[in-house]
Amino acid sequence: MSSSLDPIVRLSLVVGIIAALILAGVLIALVVFTVRYRDPSRAQPPQIHGHRSLEIAWTAAPLALLAVIFVLSLVTLGQIGQGATFGSLEPPVTVSVIGHQWWFEFRYANGAVSANELHIPAGVPVELDLASFDVIHDLWVPELGAKSDVIPGQRNVMRLFTARAGTFAGACAEFCGLEHAWMRVVVIAEPRADFDRWLAAQAAPATATGRGLEILRSNACASCHVVQGQLAGTSIGPDLTHVGSRRTLAGGVLANAADAMRAWIADPQRYKPGALMPRVPLSDGDLDAVVAYLESLK
Ligand code: CUA
Repeated sequence: MSSSLDPIVRLSLVVGIIAALILAGVLIALVVFTVRYRDPSRAQPPQIHGHRSLEIAWTAAPLALLAVIFVLSLVTLGQIGQGATFGSLEPPVTVSVIGHQWWFEFRYANGAVSANELHIPAGVPVELDLASFDVIHDLWVPELGAKSDVIPGQRNVMRLFTARAGTFAGACAEFCGLEHAWMRVVVIAEPRADFDRWLAAQAAPATATGRGLEILRSNACASCHVVQGQLAGTSIGPDLTHVGSRRTLAGGVLANAADAMRAWIADPQRYKPGALMPRVPLSDGDLDAVVAYLESLK
């Protein structure tokens, strides 16, 4: 199985072999000359200062070598960008990524919306369509070799691929304001069948019930959040339709659990100063009902 790292690994190998050959040549010459000329009584070797063809040779040879490496690097860049290594695989899964201060939104073609958690099928190329809601961000998943700026008013495309299932950490890699450091992403690569199941479940509207929903409706929550099928709001904040199924809250600041959710809603600015999420004054009972409702949105 190939990965998006393969062309980079191949290039490193070629450059590494060239460097090793040069190193070997220098070391062999060093040993030979040390042995041959170790006796000071021996005659000096012929002096060749100002030898024109030699000067041209040792200028031209590195130039030619660097030119070859430059061309190989260009070819590799092209392969990574255009996904040439994906040729024989399934058609890519496309996901729209929207950078916000300070969280990432992921929108799938079937209507599923996630936040800070990107599920992808293992062994299938993924094409991320990157856009920004506000300032310049940068999505970086180091282990998958993928990194691209996320620029307002511009669509960037990033290819992501992993042959093996697993969890990969990612983050925003472009300083984008106060909470730039808390713009984390979890990439979860699953076998295709598991991914398809997840995707279908995420696209389904919420079915949870409870007093918490009424409290969300009667407060300002809908001015930033949507719960598909239950709370018609806006997409300024994360879509909450399946928030209970996510691993983290607030761009990775908190692990998702009832007590963390409660603490976050009670005082967002304590955990993420500068975040757009305001403190909504709720009684303890109302807060409990909201937390119970949100955590049941699996
Ligand atoms: Cu977004 Cu740094």
